[in-house]
Amino acid sequence: TNGKATNIVWHKNSVGKHHRQELLQQKGCVIWITGLSGSGKSTLACALSQALYSRGKLTYILDGDNVRHGLNRDLTFKAEDRAENIRRIGEVAKLFADAGIICIASVISPYRRDRDACRALLPEGDFIEVFMNVPLQICEARDPKGLYKLARAGKIKGFTGIDDPYEPPLNCELVLPQNEENCASPCEMAESVISYLEEKDYLQ
Ligand code: PPS
Repeated sequence: TNGKATNIVWHKNSVGKHHRQELLQQKGCVIWITGLSGSGKSTLACALSQALYSRGKLTYILDGDNVRHGLNRDLTFKAEDRAENIRRIGEVAKLFADAGIICIASVISPYRRDRDACRALLPEGDFIEVFMNVPLQICEARDPKGLYKLARAGKIKGFTGIDDPYEPPLNCELVLPQNEENCASPCEMAESVISYLEEKDYLQ
């Protein structure tokens, strides 16, 4: 163990992941949505959970902004805190997937290394990385929370895309939007994710 506690033993449970999945008629997995602020991560997460709910599938959204109000309220946006933010969300997502739930994480997760560490927590195939490939200028023009404006004015330091890096995925499962005009609707993008899940047999 690389943790701090010692003398910890795993408890065996006769009800396992496959029992829960059978009960729920679905496969637990993590859909990890990464991208700049304002790229539409939360909007896609909502559209996806709505579309899956309509198909009788149980999902749960872990949204960066929301988790930072509770579990991760002690963390800032400096690199080591972002890494810890992602690590915790990855660990929680893993628990949800093990519970048989389709867990949708929507977090900037700007550093490749942190995302890859979350991927490594899950069984092969169960971590589905979705990149919201929306150029900075479009995110900035949208500026739904007025944060880019503040960052440009120097009132927020270390804002992703402005004076803090975003490392796009090199090998992710899906890149959205899939058209060149960057203007697919949330429903269309949710359907692209669902097609991927169907193709990989995640939806029975
Ligand atoms: S990270 O980088 O993954 O730890 O970020 P995350 O937990 O997803 O939180 C991103 C939201 O926090 C707001 N915010 C900032 N984002 C980026 N950089 C800085 N410095 C910053 N300060 C506050 C912002 O509203 C992000 O929300 P989204 O939903 O991504 O627009």
